[in-house]
Amino acid sequence: MNKVLTVEKITKEYGRKNVLEGVNLSVNQGEIIGLVGPNGAGKTTLMKIITGLIKNYSGDVFIENENIKTSKRKKTKSVGCVIETPGFYPNLTGYENLLFFAEISGMRDKSEIDEIVKSVGIEDYVHKKVKQYSLGMKQRLGVAQAVLTYPPLLILDEPTNGLDPAIVPKLRKFIKQLAKEKNTAVLISSHILSEIELMCDKVVFIQQGKIIKIESLNRYSEDGGTVSFVTSKIEALESFLNERNLSYKVIDKDQIQCKINTEDLENLVSSISKADIPLRSVYEVKDSLEKKYLDTMRGE
Ligand SMILES: Nc1ncnc2c1ncn2[C@@H]1O[C@H](COP(=O)(O)OP(=O)(O)OP(=O)(O)O)[C@@H](O)[C@H]1O
Ligand SMILES: [Mg+2]
Repeated sequence: MNKVLTVEKITKEYGRKNVLEGVNLSVNQGEIIGLVGPNGAGKTTLMKIITGLIKNYSGDVFIENENIKTSKRKKTKSVGCVIETPGFYPNLTGYENLLFFAEISGMRDKSEIDEIVKSVGIEDYVHKKVKQYSLGMKQRLGVAQAVLTYPPLLILDEPTNGLDPAIVPKLRKFIKQLAKEKNTAVLISSHILSEIELMCDKVVFIQQGKIIKIESLNRYSEDGGTVSFVTSKIEALESFLNERNLSYKVIDKDQIQCKINTEDLENLVSSISKADIPLRSVYEVKDSLEKKYLDTMRGE
């Protein structure tokens, strides 16, 4: 896998306070990584360092294997970003702003602007002056600008902040599509954990300037999962499982949970029903990201 971004031992002080401490992180091509943590944890600071907005820090940031401190080519140009409220020329239209940005980034094929305008869903107002935009409208124009040149790395700091919930799935789909089709590496922060859960391959937990955990959100875990069985004949199911030496936990008067490989599940369900034990429901139990977040932040 090609690493697009590598962050090594980043430490940043404000006054005497370390707001980032020894942060290591990498993002591969086509990978979407979520950055989550409490207010003031250091997410925005880290993203500003990566995008070159903060220059005074210790440690190193490599974008496509070049250190942004010493790189002659402006490596930060290969980064598209939305950090805080994007600045635009208020007296120009959204489209004119995008055109201007395309010009300075040396983008040749201007027809791609229209494609992106459509993907982000701003075609209804892109020809209005930016000073007439609402917060969410500016935010969406910001996303369009960030992806305009299809940069290999995309840094999005709370991109859904202030967005109408009806737009969020469209944006999510678009970002996933960029990762998949254009191989874009994406680092995204959000306080909306369900968003992160639906979009990201991995989630990085940050607390008081330190990365405390990195967890893969892969849908298929190799060591199997926990499956819940709901039945009115719980005792029969217990003896069935005992006979097969399968360990389980009784959760409720009609519910049992087992750790089992997904491949074995079909066979198990069919033998349970052959044994005349009725099953009302069988489902995989997963900790929500919210639960993982709370457990991680509490240090569990
Ligand atoms: N310019 C600054 N001067 C001094 N301290 C700062 C400055 N910018 C940020 N900080 C401090 O750095 C810490 C990290 O802030 P940062 O904005 O990175 O947090 P965050 O994780 O993005 O939080 P949020 O979830 O609220 O956006 C905070 O304690 C903040 O007070
Ligand atoms: Mg922030």
